[in-house]
Amino acid sequence: MTDRYAVFGNPIAQSKSPELHAAFAAQTGEDMSYERIEAPLGGFEAAVRAFIAAGGKGLNVTVPFKVEAEALADEARDSAAICGAANCLKIEDGRIVAENFDGVGLVRDIAVNLGVDLKGKRVLMAGAGGAARGALEPLIEAGVAEIVIANRDVAKAEAVARLLGPRGSIRASRYEALEPGFDLVLNTTSASLSGAEPPIPGKAFVGAELAYELAYGKGKTPFLARAEHYHVGRIADGVGMLVEQAAEAFAWWRGKRPDTAPVIAQLTVPLD
Ligand code: ATR
Repeated sequence: MTDRYAVFGNPIAQSKSPELHAAFAAQTGEDMSYERIEAPLGGFEAAVRAFIAAGGKGLNVTVPFKVEAEALADEARDSAAICGAANCLKIEDGRIVAENFDGVGLVRDIAVNLGVDLKGKRVLMAGAGGAARGALEPLIEAGVAEIVIANRDVAKAEAVARLLGPRGSIRASRYEALEPGFDLVLNTTSASLSGAEPPIPGKAFVGAELAYELAYGKGKTPFLARAEHYHVGRIADGVGMLVEQAAEAFAWWRGKRPDTAPVIAQLTVPLD
């Protein structure tokens, strides 16, 4: 029988997950279906339980349900527990297990697809929301030397910087206090979604080898244009991260790792 999967969100029409998983299933010969489900606000848990009762084997979760997804799980793996949010659930022997593959997708895209060695690097992370929280643990695991989290609301950045405790060198900063010396600059804010950009001082870009926009499909965002203006070695958007987190979910559910390169190539929107 065809195994059933879905992505839950509200709104959900914009999600590319069904196309990604259809491509992976075709590539690996897995017999599965994958649909979009728009859960009502306040009705996420009921919708998930109904899906599982109807035979659902796993699901992705997007805005605004990632925190609720982690909370309803019987077990949250480290990636989800540390950031208090899940983007993927799997039904294992009737129990709901939560993971968050956003951060690992980001790290795989940077380290494997873009070929940037993360060991010993200094990272500036703009933003302290869910996307920033998810990226911390995988970046520390990958061996970065330091992460500086800059946010307009510095108290929020300080709270996020404390999440990993003594496991990494992570500190919070005001944007205005940033100095040069970063190897990587990551935009985890939602600013690009409205055509805005985080107020990173130009000097913080100087000498960086990569500026990475976690949003995707927006072309050269104001953040990436600014990075280019300050001669950052390379700019990239989050299309690879999107595909890699989906591949992680697929591998977790189906035990087979799909080839991401052709799918990334298909979805890439040129940055010029
Ligand atoms: P998500 O879960 O997508 O990360 P979020 O938790 O609402 O969303 O967090 C959004 C992040 O984008 C926050 O760090 C927010 O900064 P503040 O906490 O200071 O508000 C940041 N953000 C959104 N728009 C921004 C803008 N125009 N400039 C700078 N930061 C912005």
